[in-house]
Amino acid sequence: MGEDLITYTLTLSLINRHCCSLTFIPMLPMYSITTTILLTILIAYSISPSSSSSSSSSSSSSSSSSDDAYPSPYTTPCDVDDVTNLSPIRREVYNDGHIIDISHRFHPDMPSWLSNDGLGQFLKLPASMKNGSRSNVSEMKLVTHTGTHVDAPGHMIDEYFDAGFDVDTLDLHVLNGPALVVDVPRDSNITAEVMKSLNIPKGVMRVLFRTLNTDKRLMWQKQFDTSYVGFLKDGAQWLKDNTDIKLVGIDYLSVAAFVDSVATHRVFFKSRDIILVEGLKLDIVEAGIYNVHCLPLRLLGAEGSPIRCILIK
Ligand SMILES: *[C@@H]1O[C@H](CO)[C@@H](O)[C@H](O)[C@H]1NC(C)=O
Ligand SMILES: *[C@@H]1O[C@H](CO)[C@@H](O)[C@H](O)[C@H]1NC(C)=O
Ligand SMILES: *[C@@H]1O[C@H](CO)[C@@H](O)[C@H](O)[C@H]1NC(C)=O
Repeated sequence: MGEDLITYTLTLSLINRHCCSLTFIPMLPMYSITTTILLTILIAYSISPSSSSSSSSSSSSSSSSSDDAYPSPYTTPCDVDDVTNLSPIRREVYNDGHIIDISHRFHPDMPSWLSNDGLGQFLKLPASMKNGSRSNVSEMKLVTHTGTHVDAPGHMIDEYFDAGFDVDTLDLHVLNGPALVVDVPRDSNITAEVMKSLNIPKGVMRVLFRTLNTDKRLMWQKQFDTSYVGFLKDGAQWLKDNTDIKLVGIDYLSVAAFVDSVATHRVFFKSRDIILVEGLKLDIVEAGIYNVHCLPLRLLGAEGSPIRCILIK
């Protein structure tokens, strides 16, 4: 690195004490592309909180950022690129519809098991910039079977829980790969007869079942609804005995109908090779073949976990 570069770095870290350095970039003399890239990297380092020594003096003195006489560089309005357009884009699909998000957003009004009032406030902000912290740091408190989530065998078989069959032991191969989205007849829960009528070919390993739950938009309703559609015990048994399905996905908080909840789950969990993903968002998906990608958190000891699932066309 030439001396000039060092000089500019120093200048930038000085500028950095007051306001966003990025706006000063156009004022720099023209350098070769390589130098410009190097400079950009250096700028990025000098404005990041865990910065290099050249700017550490400015960041350490800024930790008392509540002091108005010495405003924090992290909160100066000019840190923001464009203050006139601060509405984040929230998407359901990405890359021209090739990637479809089939997870629900976590929010206080989403339904929660047996609750009339929904999930409620699950995020707190123990450290906030408005209170003088360097950054906003949230904390969440969540039942692991909230929203779009996965069940591990320990959920309803206690011996499996004690033995450690938690979400960290789930097979990511089952959770990722070719998958079928199928529509279930709307006039019934998922019985053996319904399963048979779906004619899912042998060899299909991952199936996401779309039901009346999606039509009724149950996952968009705050109040828990016990009349949701799910598997009955004989439907689960039929699936086990007659198909190769190892990933069972459904569009409300449980794969098992409310009346048959524990017995049905136990049928699925018994052999520990079937994974249940619940609370999927299947409203904008066409029935058919996709690649599914579902990744649970590696929560050691937990029999459930929130999960992000996407379909790729
Ligand atoms: C940061 O904290 C402020 C409150 O001080 C809050 O209004 C803002 O939404 C927080 N930002 C994030 C990203 O949580
Ligand atoms: C700021 O701190 C006060 C006192 O601890 C607290 O009551 C308030 O909720 C905090 N505000 C934010 C936005 O975190
Ligand atoms: C499915 O079962 C629930 C009880 O768990 C019941 O309330 C509901 O009406 C059934 N749905 C259909 C479509 O038969």
